Amino acid sequence: MSIPTPTSEGVAGLSAAPAGLPDELTLARLAGEFFAALPNGAGAGAYPVPAALPADPEIRLGEPGPRIAPVQAPPRPSPSVSADPAGLSSQAGAPAPGVPEAYAAALPTLSPPASSPQLAPSTPYYFLGEASAYPSSAGNALPLAENRVVPQSFGLPGEGELHALLAEIASDRRAATAPATPQAGHFYFLDSASVPDRKADLPLAQPSASPVFDVNAVRRDFPILQERVNGKPLIWFDNAATTHKPQAVIDRLAWFYQHENSNIHRAAHELAARATDAYEGARSKVARFLGASSVDEIIFVRGATEGINLIAKTWGWQNVGEGDEIIVSHLEHHANIVPWQQLAAAKGARIKVIPVDDTGQVILEEYRRLLTARTRIVSVTQVSNALGTVVPVKEIVALAHQAGAVAVVDGAQSVSHMRVNVQEIGADFFVFSGHKVFAPTGIGAVYGRKALLDDMPPWQGGGNMIADVTFEKTLYHGAPTRFEAGTGNIADAVGLGAAIDYVERLGMDNIARYEHDLLVYATRGVLSVPGLKLIGTARDKASVLSFVLDGYRPEEVGRALNEEGIAVRSGHHCAQPILRRFGQEATVRPSLAFYNTCEEIDHLVAVLHRLARGKGRIGR
Ligand code: ALA
Repeated sequence: MSIPTPTSEGVAGLSAAPAGLPDELTLARLAGEFFAALPNGAGAGAYPVPAALPADPEIRLGEPGPRIAPVQAPPRPSPSVSADPAGLSSQAGAPAPGVPEAYAAALPTLSPPASSPQLAPSTPYYFLGEASAYPSSAGNALPLAENRVVPQSFGLPGEGELHALLAEIASDRRAATAPATPQAGHFYFLDSASVPDRKADLPLAQPSASPVFDVNAVRRDFPILQERVNGKPLIWFDNAATTHKPQAVIDRLAWFYQHENSNIHRAAHELAARATDAYEGARSKVARFLGASSVDEIIFVRGATEGINLIAKTWGWQNVGEGDEIIVSHLEHHANIVPWQQLAAAKGARIKVIPVDDTGQVILEEYRRLLTARTRIVSVTQVSNALGTVVPVKEIVALAHQAGAVAVVDGAQSVSHMRVNVQEIGADFFVFSGHKVFAPTGIGAVYGRKALLDDMPPWQGGGNMIADVTFEKTLYHGAPTRFEAGTGNIADAVGLGAAIDYVERLGMDNIARYEHDLLVYATRGVLSVPGLKLIGTARDKASVLSFVLDGYRPEEVGRALNEEGIAVRSGHHCAQPILRRFGQEATVRPSLAFYNTCEEIDHLVAVLHRLARGKGRIGR
């Protein structure tokens, strides 16, 4: 067969692949890599492998994760790539097909040797057996969507040859990129994540994680990743806006409506008991996920925005007076600015802002100077949705406490990327949204320290939150029910519980490590694009790459990427103050999750290179 060679126009003009086959660009790329590696050099340079990227950008994840060497030689020769979603064939001690160096070794996926047992999974969903006790509404109909090609599918040589050649490519790349001395303790996912200590009243965490992080297996848990957009495979880089849902979550919702649906806490019938158990079970999972000391510290809300509003309108309303001060950082999402402004306006209080340096990190020295005896609340994000900065919330909380203030942490952008423990952070309040952590929309949670919750007034009145009502007086329940007036989002809370089970099975530490390396790889890639300026270059970052490109408005870049099936957000990201701090009204914002791959990043970078070559001509 003839192997298409990408033109100088990059990905433009390539036709869509038939369903179930890799698209033309992927095919060309793999073929290019393969032929470039032939001993006689035939075909060398046919595909521009993005190897000549700038030196390692200094990026690391924030406090919850260990420092991972961005690129290093794996401890063994190139891993054999698991073709079985359950990871059954992975060799103990072999590096996982992680990023970025194992990525090179993992192209393309190799079929199991003929002598191997048939490794086809009994279910298309990697974790279905564990993650969901619920039969999939989709049955087994979902096709196995390999996003890697197998040699047989387009006539490339057999596994043995490929293995040898790919090992060579991998070792060449490692030689080019690895630090001179491999650092100890940085092997990929050999240690499974530890289960944190839990209080007795919380259910034990599921045994954490598979021993390896196989992104291709994980991707099969997310049916939407098989979508095609504009004839191209969907590449979802809009994870900071919302994340996709694994089949286990979709199944859990269907199961709820098929077998448990009822209002909760209200009746003696069987379904009320099932629904109540499911809902309260989800609350326990949230408590465990955040490291709360009790389930009573978890209030279900619609999301992080409603959570911050709840805190402002209860604790804030009760405790902030005229002349008092509320501190936020320059990085905040509008949801962590506006409720405090409303409170300050109502009470005659003042908002103070922690400045950031030119990398987009908060300046702790300046923060110290802002704290006074009048400071009542300090409210900061843990990860900036606009820049990706990981903020040192533990230090910020400790300093707030020294000043006698309470500390609120907005975890909307952190909980999907790193292990969070509210007691370790010391936060008085912590909020997050379920939809950013692979759960449904319309559900989220507030963690509040029990001693504070017990003294806070309710913010909404109605059913569920009352102990007794007369026309003269109402007695309220204690926390958390006091703050959950009316019928809540029961099914989606249960879905949030399933999402938490899912990420805990993957292991938050595994996720953090994989994403760290992916972010390093992506940062190198985008920095190779002429005229591209990264906005937000803090040393500690998670998930987000915000940038502007010479000659284009951000929405033009967003549209051009969409043409190629790549979803990013372009705009102000509901964080206008921080973008303006960097002289921007809008940026392009790819944001990564654990189901993204180096291959997808290569597509993104290829389109950006093409745009850069076009010097603003596209979309005008
Ligand atoms: N807060 C979401 C974002 O950053 C919507 O895109």
